[in-house]
Amino acid sequence: MDQNELKKLVGRKAVTFIQDNTVVGLGTGSTVKFMVDALGERVKNEHLHIVGVPTSNRTAEQAKALGIEVKSVDEVDHIDLTIDGADEISADYQGIKGGGAAHLFEKIVATNSDKVMWIVDESKMVKTLGKFPLPLEVIPYGSQQVLKKLAAKGLHPEFRLDENGNHVLTDSKNYVIDLHLGQIEHPHKLADYLIKQVGIVEQGLFLDMVNTIIVGRQNGPEVIQARP
Ligand code: A5P
Repeated sequence: MDQNELKKLVGRKAVTFIQDNTVVGLGTGSTVKFMVDALGERVKNEHLHIVGVPTSNRTAEQAKALGIEVKSVDEVDHIDLTIDGADEISADYQGIKGGGAAHLFEKIVATNSDKVMWIVDESKMVKTLGKFPLPLEVIPYGSQQVLKKLAAKGLHPEFRLDENGNHVLTDSKNYVIDLHLGQIEHPHKLADYLIKQVGIVEQGLFLDMVNTIIVGRQNGPEVIQARP
């Protein structure tokens, strides 16, 4: 199976965990796209009553087009389960997210969910985080100063630009800085430092947050219970 087939496999597996009459956080990215397609099928065929809380405009549009009821995180009183992708997951089940520039909304939805599930193809499973550049969402005003400060600290920051050299913008119209770290030895320490920097709205380390991980492997989906 190629990477896309593995993503589809975990997307389809994930929706089997969704129960009727629940509120489901819908992540962002190419893996989640398969999951939302599969959820749309279930809603249609089984007449499920699901409210989806999307983490990006992209996911909201896809879900609505499939007939899934969509509400914002501020319109629901709780979220039962959030299903999202990830860019890297370490051996102790910590994650990097934000490769699709959606980690701020993703973290808001995840931290307001009873349970969090990540769905990934096996290439995302690593020993130590950091090969994937760590995304930061930053306020445009003063962002050059933030970049300078991060560079001076040896964190190898780069603005994320599109193919025309323009800043990639998040759904909140903020910029993204990626930290090219290679390896993150102390993710909690780094997360504490980053979130204290004025101008950084959110950083892409998702620590102690995931309950269940579904990994797409060549011989089928592996379901890992990371935390109760
Ligand atoms: C979005 O900002 C990210 O956190 C995604 O969840 C992550 O990049 C996974 O995306 P793919 O499923 O496309 O790899």
